[in-house]
Amino acid sequence: MSFVITTPLYYVNDKPHLGSVYTTIICDSIARFKRLLGEDVIFITGVDEHGLKIQRTANEKGIDPKTHCDEISKIFDINWENWNISYDKFIRTSSKNHEKVVNEFYERVKQSDDIYMGVQKGWYCVGCEEFKDNPENSATYKCPIHQKNLEWKNEENLFFRLSKYQKQIEKIINDSTFIEPVERKNEIINFVSRGLKDFSISRTNVSWGIPVPDHDNHTFYVWFDALLGYVSAISSNAKECSLKNSILSGWPADIHLIGKDILRFHAVYWPAMLISAGMKVPKKVFGHGFLTREGQKMGKSLGNVLDPDLLLSKYGNDPVRWYLIKDISLGNDGDFQDKRFVDIINNDLANTIGNLLNRTSSMSRKWFENKVPNNEKISNENKLAHLAKISVESYLEKFNQYKLDLAANEVLSLAIKTNLYLNDNQPWMLIKKKDNLPIVKEIIYNVLESTRIIGLLLLPLLPELSSKINDQLGSIYKKEVQWEQQLKWGLLVGNSSLPKPYPIINKLEYE
Ligand code: MSP
Repeated sequence: MSFVITTPLYYVNDKPHLGSVYTTIICDSIARFKRLLGEDVIFITGVDEHGLKIQRTANEKGIDPKTHCDEISKIFDINWENWNISYDKFIRTSSKNHEKVVNEFYERVKQSDDIYMGVQKGWYCVGCEEFKDNPENSATYKCPIHQKNLEWKNEENLFFRLSKYQKQIEKIINDSTFIEPVERKNEIINFVSRGLKDFSISRTNVSWGIPVPDHDNHTFYVWFDALLGYVSAISSNAKECSLKNSILSGWPADIHLIGKDILRFHAVYWPAMLISAGMKVPKKVFGHGFLTREGQKMGKSLGNVLDPDLLLSKYGNDPVRWYLIKDISLGNDGDFQDKRFVDIINNDLANTIGNLLNRTSSMSRKWFENKVPNNEKISNENKLAHLAKISVESYLEKFNQYKLDLAANEVLSLAIKTNLYLNDNQPWMLIKKKDNLPIVKEIIYNVLESTRIIGLLLLPLLPELSSKINDQLGSIYKKEVQWEQQLKWGLLVGNSSLPKPYPIINKLEYE
């Protein structure tokens, strides 16, 4: 059985912004964590290329939509490589394979008698690609997400009988594990309790979309097409891209991680579409919060957009990952503050974790011939071994519950306690007396061993920093040994060489 995790499929109207980097980093950490636990992971990301928004963006640039999509999709792909994102599948919804899956799915839904022709009238946000529930003063109302006016639409469209699935959707969303966090679940329960309305799944005024097979001039509504990207991505390695092969290759998804603004699509429309097509619904939809900048919404008009490329080239991957994972509780909104960012990186990564490794390794090299001390008394009966055991257990529990901030805090807290242990025991004083050598060996061994465990715990969170810690401890992680086994105390081998230390993370300056 595979563990299937997905990011949203990002619109290609623009290059990736910090919000997309955020979701993708979180998914990447979860995917790495599950792989380390021995699961067969399928981590899906990709791009959502059709629809009016993309069509207009290309028109404004004076190029055809396909050329525009090729250009931006490439940027997304390169971007994820730069961020060291370990995705398994990258789906483009303009691909022929995907179109095939959409057509097959549509046929199934039609056979369930869930498609009919009707007239769609309403106020539409092109940014969201969504009809809004007739807000007050609709003509002057601005979508709070895109700050743009709504557009009036009145056209003949094909509809999907969502209303037929009222009872089944109520049951699914009331399940305690389907929607997280609970505030989001309650929003959806509220929305569904007002009664589900059928929604239109085709457009007549959008040429940049997948043509509906039996209706000239109709293309599929971009959301109907995009959600199926998850399904086509899974079967992309099979001989043939099809619903059957998707099911055989791992569908349903274990978790769709998305922003809170697109929850309705994933937690209501999508399950109903899948039931109609005789397919299983995803196991979980997690709606994370929004990122703001120094307390304000990020937006081009406000001039406060944080360019992820700049962040990456200026600070590197680990600092940005650490801030986004550790400082924001997944599910809540989070704020990116420059000063806080610098302080957190300097305190947590440079002073606490980096310094712990650097000073202990230096002492060990100086006193024990560039090696880990040969500690005869490796035992679990010491304070640090006990603390590490508790930290590891709690970290695993938190990570399994997708509380990544708390898992990251567990690692940090073990590093803080290890530093305290070192300071309390003062091996640099003890070493002055020859009789103290055994006890100094034990202290240094324990601290290095705890640092080894810290490095391992960082593997899914900060893979690059973790690998530097590994290098400095003499490349001790073993691919062939289960990761969880390696989290046990006492595996650092006495007398093994310690390479010359270098700072694993540079301190940042606040400008
Ligand atoms: N194309 C659709 C998703 C289709 S999934 C089958 C879409 N794309 S998007 O590019 O507009 O948005 C992608 C994700 O970015 C959404 O989950 C949205 O919530 C998220 N974010 C947009 N702005 C954000 C922040 N400021 N902060 C965090 N996430 C944000 O919607």
